[in-house]
Amino acid sequence: MTPGPGPGHDPAPVPLDGPLFRSEPTALYRELRREYGAVAPVLLDADIPAWLVLGYRELHQVTGDPVLFSRDCAHWNQWDRVPDDWPMLPMIGRGHSSVLHTVGEHHRARVAVVNGALEAVDPFELRAHAERFADELVDAVCAEGGADLVAHYAALLPVRVLATLYGFTDEQGPGLVAALNDMVDGDEDAIAGELHVAASMARLVADRAARPADDVVSRMLASGRTTGGLALTHEEIAQDLIVMMTAGHQPTAGWIGNSLRLMLTDERFAASLLGGRRSVAEAMNEVLWEDTPTQNVAGRWASRDTRLGERAVRAGDLLLLGIQAANHDPQVRTHGSALPGGNSAHFSFGHGEHRCPFPAREIAEVVARTAVEVVLDRLPDLDLAVPAAALTRRRSPWLSSLTHLPVRFTPTAPRG
Ligand code: HEM
Repeated sequence: MTPGPGPGHDPAPVPLDGPLFRSEPTALYRELRREYGAVAPVLLDADIPAWLVLGYRELHQVTGDPVLFSRDCAHWNQWDRVPDDWPMLPMIGRGHSSVLHTVGEHHRARVAVVNGALEAVDPFELRAHAERFADELVDAVCAEGGADLVAHYAALLPVRVLATLYGFTDEQGPGLVAALNDMVDGDEDAIAGELHVAASMARLVADRAARPADDVVSRMLASGRTTGGLALTHEEIAQDLIVMMTAGHQPTAGWIGNSLRLMLTDERFAASLLGGRRSVAEAMNEVLWEDTPTQNVAGRWASRDTRLGERAVRAGDLLLLGIQAANHDPQVRTHGSALPGGNSAHFSFGHGEHRCPFPAREIAEVVARTAVEVVLDRLPDLDLAVPAAALTRRRSPWLSSLTHLPVRFTPTAPRG
């Protein structure tokens, strides 16, 4: 890494990629903080510049002021440099008008619709759906004596549960799983995946508009007609459903995989794999502090020139929310202590107006906890099938999850 700036000098930006980023992002953030302080200049793909907000206090400031640090990417001062096929575009959201990318009054109305529809989900039904799909996935591998708990389990589960809550039939589930995973992997099937998800949402909205049922989409249609005096169009509801599916599935899948990894590799949890629920809850909370599934979020755009930390930020600059880095900020993590059973002051679900809606967090928690518990119940002598050091992470500046989690166990007969 090039040396950090002296007083009065513009700092040299650091590519948000490279070997350290791919293997040990937390070490990279630590180095960046040492070199640059709380706000570091970084380069994204195609050398597009941004600020990575590493400091807990600074991230609070950015997420807490939606006018100065807007979610509206129209402010961006780099649009003329961004290639049309820039791989980061889906995360930036040009051309999207979902709840993620609207601001002000309109955003508040959209969030109210999302919240209302998710709040009405019955937690017992949710748990039952999650158990059913988790059991099905374990049934498919339990006689084999080995499985990949990311590819065969975590990456397939949350989308099935969410699809059921939203109103899809069981038959539509596997197609959605494949499309959603293709979309996020960003390879040649990504566009086809995105089209499949968008077309499926549009069809579901049209269908429920004609024949309402007891599901998330029907509730969004019902409240979207009245909330805040702003009638939401079917297209807007479909856009928000896509966000609720994509923003819901991958981080929850990552939370499951990262929690299982912790329990399988850390003595404190390995010793109690058979032990009570408490250790599952502790592992899951520790993951949100130490190894959070959404490491960075794009982003916010400065609506005018300002200062943040020691940096002069110009109007239109892009700020990336450094969630993993802020969770590790020594200002809030005094020497090794900080891990605070039950302390949930981490940034893993964001903060401020655009934070993850509260009922969405609860859904994620029930799905992830059920997923971990079902695996531990059904495959009690579970063990890693490779050395912990051989586990690799997805190459993504946004998500921080494993590519594979190979395990072995004593074969058992399926239940189903
Ligand atoms: C472990 C699981 C999850 C994590 C770590 C997570 C994390 C986040 C974060 C950090 C944000 C804030 C983005 C920003 O500030 O720009 C967010 C927003 C959002 N999340 Fe989640 N999320 C999770 C699960 C879910 C689930 C299950 C759903 C849906 C059922 C969901 C729906 C949303 C929506 C709709 C937003 C946008 C809110 C807005 O812009 O007003 N999330 N999430």
